[in-house]
Amino acid sequence: MKISSILFGLATAFALCGLPNAAEAQITVVPQPRVVRLHQGQAAVPAAPKVYVDAKAKINAAYTISRLSEAGLKPTIVSKAAAADIAITMGKGSGHKEGYKLTLSAGKSPAVAAVADDRNGALYAIETIAQILKSDNAGHYTANVCTITDWPQFGWRAYMLDESRHFHGMANVKRLLDEMIRLKMNVFHWHLVDSPGWRIEIKGYPKLTEVGSLSDFSHYFLGAEKWKEVHPDRAYYTQKEIKEIVAYAAARGITIIPEIEVPAHCDASTIAYPELQTPVPNAEENKSLPALYNVISPKFKKFIETTLSQVVALFPSKIVHIGGDEANYARWSKNEDINKFMQAHGLKTYPDMQLYAINSIQKFLEKKGVKLIGWNEITGDNVHNEAGRGENSAVSLDPSAIVQFWDGSPDLAKKAIRKGYYLVNSNCHDTYLDYNYGVLPLERAYNFNPYFEDLTPEQNAKILGTGCQMWGEWTPTEERINFQTFPRIGAYAEDGWTNVENKNYADFVRRMAPIEQIWKAKGYFCGQPSYTMGVTAAPK
Ligand code: ACM
Repeated sequence: MKISSILFGLATAFALCGLPNAAEAQITVVPQPRVVRLHQGQAAVPAAPKVYVDAKAKINAAYTISRLSEAGLKPTIVSKAAAADIAITMGKGSGHKEGYKLTLSAGKSPAVAAVADDRNGALYAIETIAQILKSDNAGHYTANVCTITDWPQFGWRAYMLDESRHFHGMANVKRLLDEMIRLKMNVFHWHLVDSPGWRIEIKGYPKLTEVGSLSDFSHYFLGAEKWKEVHPDRAYYTQKEIKEIVAYAAARGITIIPEIEVPAHCDASTIAYPELQTPVPNAEENKSLPALYNVISPKFKKFIETTLSQVVALFPSKIVHIGGDEANYARWSKNEDINKFMQAHGLKTYPDMQLYAINSIQKFLEKKGVKLIGWNEITGDNVHNEAGRGENSAVSLDPSAIVQFWDGSPDLAKKAIRKGYYLVNSNCHDTYLDYNYGVLPLERAYNFNPYFEDLTPEQNAKILGTGCQMWGEWTPTEERINFQTFPRIGAYAEDGWTNVENKNYADFVRRMAPIEQIWKAKGYFCGQPSYTMGVTAAPK
C-alpha cells in the first residue's frame, strides 16, 4: 500500500473518532518504519528520563545516554524496567532480524517500551525513540501514543568512504558512523587502498605506509615527483587505530567491510614495493603504464596473503572486499611470464587471468572462513567497453563470491543473480555520492529501488542490499564530504530499510526536516538548497 493511502485512511479514521488530525499525529522517523499504528493521546516522559536497557542487549550505558541526548534528553540509566520511563527489553519484538516493537502509552509505566529482536534491534529502538520524542518546553518529551513494529528490508545498508584519494582520519570516520546509526545503516565499507594512497598499517611491509601513504589524489595535479610531499608525516591508520574504529562501529551495530584492491588501482603499493608491479620490457612504458600487480609472482602471493591475514584478524566482518574493478591489462599483455602462465593454464584472455587470480584469493580467504566481495568486474563480464578491458572471461567466478554491482547494464547484475550469486546493488547512476546533485538529486537517490522488477521474488532474495559510495577524488575536506553526503545519505538509508510500498518522497522530505536541523547544528549540513537540481559547487 502506498503511504498516501495510509495517510488518507488515517485522516478518515481521525475525522470519524475525534482523534487529532493526521498532520498532528504523524510519527516522524527516518527511515520510515514498517508498521505504525497511531492511537489517541500523548505519551510523555520527563526531560531527564529513567532508562532501562536489558543487559542482554550489551549496550554500554554511556552510549545509550549519548544517543538519547542527541534528542535533548538527559537520561539516567536504571537497573529495573519497572522503575523506568523508557524500557528496552530483549524478546520477540517484530519477529525479524534487527527489528523491534515500540509501544508508547499514556498513563502507563513505562511510557515508552521497546522489545528488541536482537542487539541491533535494541540499538535501532533507541534511535527511533530519540527521533520521535519532542520537547513540550514544559519539562517533558512527548509523542503520539502508538505502536511501531519495525524491521529492515535489507540486511546490507552501507555507506562507503574512500580514504585512499583523500585521507580524513579517525574523528571524521567516527562522526560518519554516528550518522549511520542515526539512520540504521549497518555496513561501513572502507575503501582503504587505491592508487593515490595506502592507508592501513601492514606488519612486515612498512613501506606500504612509510611510502605508500604519503600521497593522495592531489598528486595527479602536482606531478609524480611530488608523491612524497603531500602528506610528509603520515596519512594512514595504525592497526591499533583500526581496532578502535572497529570497536566504535561495533558499538553502533555497524560491520566494517575493508577493501583491499586487486589486481589494479595499486600505484601506492607498487611504488612502495616495485617488485609487486608487473614489469614490461620498454623502460618508458614501465614507468607510464597503469599499475597492475604481477599476480603470478611468489612475491605478490606472499604480500597479498600477509596483508589479507592481518586484515582478516583486524576486521571481524568475515567478508573482505577485494576491489577487482577497472583493471587495465596493458602490463599483462606485454609481460612474457604472464602470457606463458596463461598458455600453461588455458587462460585465453586477460579477464580470465584476473578471474584466476581472484578465485585463488577467494580460496585463501575461504580457508579462514571469510567471504570475498568485489565490484562487478569480478563476474568476468564485459562491464566496460574500452579496449583492453572489455572482454568476457571464460573462467567462472567462485560461487561463494558476492558481487557488488556498480557499472554496466543492469542486465549484468541480473545475470549474476540468475547464476546464483549474492549481490549488493550499488548502481553508480543511483548511488554514487561523488556525483553532483544535478546528476543525482536527492529525489533520484530516494527513488532507487535495489530490487529488479523483472526478477522473481526468489531471485530478488539474492540481493543483500545496497550501498552508497563516497568516492574521494573531489572531496579533500570534511566540508566537501558533508556537502556530498548530507542529505542524500538519508535517502539511501531509507532505500535500504523501508519497503517500497511505504516509501513516499514528499513524506520523506517532511520527515528529514528535524534530522537536517541536527546536522545543521553540528555544522555538517552545509545549508545548500538540498532539494534543488543542478547544484554542482560546494560552499567555499
Ligand atoms: C568503481 O567506481 N571503480 C568501483
